[in-house]
Amino acid sequence: MNQRVQITETVLRDANQSLIATRMKLADFLPILETLDQAGYYSLECWGGATFDSCLRYLDEDPWERLRTIRAHVKNTRLQMLLRGQNLLGYKHYHDDVVEKFVELSIKNGIDIIRIFDALNDFRNIKTALEATKKYATANTVASGCISYTQSPVHTVEKYVEMCKELKSMGFDTICLKDMAGTMSPYEAEHLIKGIKDAVGDMPVILHTHSTTGMAYMTVIKAIESGADVVDTAISCFSGGTSQPATETIYYALKQYGVETCLNEAAINKINDFFKPLKQQYVDSGLLNPKSMATDSQALVYKVPGGMLSNMIANLKDMNAMDKFDAALLEIPNVRKDLGYPPLVTPLSQMVGNQAVINVLMGERYKQISTEIKNYFKGEYGIAPAPVSPELSEKILGQGGKPTDCRIEDAKRTGEEFAKAKAALGDLARCEEDLMSYICFPEQAEAFLKARKAKEENVATYTIEAM
Ligand code: CO
Repeated sequence: MNQRVQITETVLRDANQSLIATRMKLADFLPILETLDQAGYYSLECWGGATFDSCLRYLDEDPWERLRTIRAHVKNTRLQMLLRGQNLLGYKHYHDDVVEKFVELSIKNGIDIIRIFDALNDFRNIKTALEATKKYATANTVASGCISYTQSPVHTVEKYVEMCKELKSMGFDTICLKDMAGTMSPYEAEHLIKGIKDAVGDMPVILHTHSTTGMAYMTVIKAIESGADVVDTAISCFSGGTSQPATETIYYALKQYGVETCLNEAAINKINDFFKPLKQQYVDSGLLNPKSMATDSQALVYKVPGGMLSNMIANLKDMNAMDKFDAALLEIPNVRKDLGYPPLVTPLSQMVGNQAVINVLMGERYKQISTEIKNYFKGEYGIAPAPVSPELSEKILGQGGKPTDCRIEDAKRTGEEFAKAKAALGDLARCEEDLMSYICFPEQAEAFLKARKAKEENVATYTIEAM
């Protein structure tokens, strides 16, 4: 057993995202930020992932302002974000200048740890984000290279060890194994972590998993036994199910082993007391579906990550087709095989899930093919882990058609996105952050910035009348 293991708290990002579709408002958790800062966490995962989109789309919040506010209250603990490499926080590939500016602004607004991953583990897609992180790094900045963990005939321990060696040679500071579906077993964790520690022992290794299948507690303990340096957990009332295992539970288990976690027991209990009534509110409003808190061992068969199940259920309910749920679940492994076993992480989880639903609803496989799947076969997402279905490839690309290289950069297009954003927003944009919000989520950002301006004008009118 490691003598010392550190804990990343996910309540503000992944637990929030996995259990309540990232609807937690800044005002909801603002009063507990100082306590979170005193709890002794390795880091507080609080930004990136779906938080940015959700702020603009649902919460009427400026994601940058949210980050700055968290930073103002969390002075000592590292703030961590999840970044989808060349996709940033969206679903398409951005140009290098956009990726670089996004990283620069993230660090400038308060982020310390940038956990960077690519859905396909195509590391060409995380290189620009890594280089930008190094370029704008402060003394506290950590570039964490993240591997999307999945199981398939092509995903062996040796393959993962090779990936870790590559991340090390690229210049990452830490390595994170991201098991988004929660399907990593204790046995697999042992072999993986030992293999990785043997190969890149001097780099801290982090395990990120989900409790979806009930495996996580065993897997986390086994990973720590095998040498993991940091594990991700969520405060207990926001733990379990599609979220992470509980912070307090792991803390008590490790304490008996004599493993130092640096956590402050009084602080973590206080944090849980704070979040309990919030959780009850989300349950009462229907935002927190008890289904997502349950243990679902089906995922061990279908390898379906937390958010993907709830997405599929929502889609099928919308179409009054919940009776097709089991058939759609069964179709997922087939679609995945046709795509060359991509890890089921955003956006691939949604793409595979949607295509499985389409295949089942149409009653014929690939009668209709989503634009995203077509783009995947065209090579726009990177290289698939294994060969894709030749039949499907031919159907999409035509006979003898070849995918393009998604990493071809066009230097002439540098600055283009920023110019477009400036032209579209006019005086709605007041800073680079506003432009970046627009580049990432144009419609949502424009609506948000218009509303912001309207609110200010209302306040101004009111003030004049009041005088
Ligand atoms: Co996760």
